Amino acid sequence: MRAEGSDPKDFVELDLAGLVDSAADEVWPQAHARGIRVEVDTRDAEREEAIVRGDFSLLRRAVINLLTNAIKYGAANSMVSVRLCAEGPDWVIRVRDQGEGMAADALPRLFKRFSRIVGEGRDKPSGVGLGLVIVKTVAERHGGSVTVESEIGQGSMFELRLPLRTHAVPSVAA
Ligand SMILES: Nc1ncnc2c1ncn2[C@@H]1O[C@H](COP(=O)(O)OP(=O)(O)O)[C@@H](O)[C@H]1O
Ligand SMILES: [Mg+2]
Repeated sequence: MRAEGSDPKDFVELDLAGLVDSAADEVWPQAHARGIRVEVDTRDAEREEAIVRGDFSLLRRAVINLLTNAIKYGAANSMVSVRLCAEGPDWVIRVRDQGEGMAADALPRLFKRFSRIVGEGRDKPSGVGLGLVIVKTVAERHGGSVTVESEIGQGSMFELRLPLRTHAVPSVAA
């Protein structure tokens, strides 16, 4: 896949807040079709611009894949949120849904090729099980990672962590 072939020397300066907005715009029709509201929070980028070096289209694809899952596996007429957070040396993009969540023992294999969870009585949306593999490859290309927290009945939270924060703002005493 292209995520594996991308070359860090082709990385450009990009704005993660704009990237998150653009990914959210892209999935709007899918969200709308399921009555899901996508809440975008890029407040952290107002204090400090989220400019990083990376591959815009790959990172955007990774965020779209997380949002698409949150919308597909989220509950109809619920909410999905995507938040850009400045955390130490990292920018973190966190996607939460209010779906049925996943059992702890299923989580480790999610990022492997063709892995899909088939639950009892689950009306499974279609897919091939490659979306999260792409997210993981893209994260690692940028020196980052993707992790998940979920529990049955509690929805899911995926975190794309990019150790690319360069504009450290000195903390000013109030
Ligand atoms: N937000 C989520 N809530 C519940 N299950 C999820 C979520 N995201 C991913 N999954 C599970 O992980 C599997 C793999 O996801 P992915 O790699 O995107 O493949 P696909 O969406 O094509 O099935 C999905 O089939 C689904 O079982
Ligand atoms: Mg998917």
